[in-house]
Amino acid sequence: MIPSVLPTYSRAPLHFVKGEGSWLVEEDGRRFLDLGSGIAVNALGHAHPALVKALTDQAQNLWHVSNLYEIPQQQALADKLVASSFADTVFFTNSGTEACELAVKMARKYWYEKGQPDKTDIIAFSGSFHGRSSAGIAAAGSEKMVKGFGPLLPGFKHLEWRDMAGLEAAIDDNTAAVLIEPVQGEGGIRPMPDDELKALRALCDDKGCLLILDEVQCGMGRTGRLFAHEWAGVTPDIMMVAKGIGGGFPLGAVLATEEAASGMTVGTHGSTYGGNPLGCAVGCAVMDHVADPEFLAEVNRKAGLLRQKLEGLVAAHPEVFEEVRGSGLMIGLKCRIAPADLVKAGYNALVITVPAADNVVRLLPALTISDDEIAEAVTRLDLAAASLEAA
Ligand SMILES: Cc1ncc(COP(=O)(O)O)c(C=O)c1O
Repeated sequence: MIPSVLPTYSRAPLHFVKGEGSWLVEEDGRRFLDLGSGIAVNALGHAHPALVKALTDQAQNLWHVSNLYEIPQQQALADKLVASSFADTVFFTNSGTEACELAVKMARKYWYEKGQPDKTDIIAFSGSFHGRSSAGIAAAGSEKMVKGFGPLLPGFKHLEWRDMAGLEAAIDDNTAAVLIEPVQGEGGIRPMPDDELKALRALCDDKGCLLILDEVQCGMGRTGRLFAHEWAGVTPDIMMVAKGIGGGFPLGAVLATEEAASGMTVGTHGSTYGGNPLGCAVGCAVMDHVADPEFLAEVNRKAGLLRQKLEGLVAAHPEVFEEVRGSGLMIGLKCRIAPADLVKAGYNALVITVPAADNVVRLLPALTISDDEIAEAVTRLDLAAASLEAA
């Protein structure tokens, strides 16, 4: 008989009942060090006092009104994002995949309004992940995600990740936009080198197409800059964010330049819940932390510390690990064993990690993780790796 929860996930038998900072407490009392953050969501850890306050204060006043009315919390969050980024304007969604839907619509509408209605193609890359909506799976294009779900949304072309020569040849008069994650998350924590992101920006400008960056996983301070593309010194035309922006409350956004957003006039897009007062109140509190240069400096310092310890871990377990890679606190441990085995061994050692493609185990700790917790995390990962070697 089908379970009452649609069985699209293979779930670990863990029942977490409480979260405190970097820690998750299981029903039976065990305390797990959380290096997954709900897949890069709990940017400020679990139950951060500022987020709890923002949510509960707002909950006592007003939960929902609809986008038919002005929403001060939404305005405040949009202002903060615009003030801290390349963007001139923001539309709020409830998830990353909804942000993908709008990013694609916005790019196509831009060219339509410019009198170039045939410019509809979106070029995306192998190993990418943009969510599970029709646009999201068509964009990623992997067999695993699209099989059986056709007919797919047309107009997506796929290239090998970082195939810059192929990209130059592939962009033609029908290309509306190139869509890419500056650091692939689900694809196995694969950062795009800064010079290639720069070259990609220049290519889009030369050929006359838009650049959409998906910073759903790598944005909001995760790499040590507010947005990952800042490391390369370039800006996109359109950017998707989600995950960390709500710190655990379902929230996403599309950020865009005035020019790229120029086709999105009254009535062209909408969302019942997107930008609701609860989500945006929390989002404002998240932004007040992660956009602070001192907070980001700490993320970078802690990322350096963790990276250094992980290099030691990898060197100590050459049969388990191949390399450590990533950017900031978005780290991949490339394994020589099945990543699921390491994740499972981690459960036994009371440390939570997340598997990814390319034989990688992801570490996406809370950006607020302490130095002591970093040391403890590596001790627990060491135990997990040693248990696999002994098996
Ligand atoms: C880079 C990227 N884009 C989009 C998404 C989809 O976000 P959501 O699951 O909130 O729809 C994800 C989720 O993992 C992601 O990592």
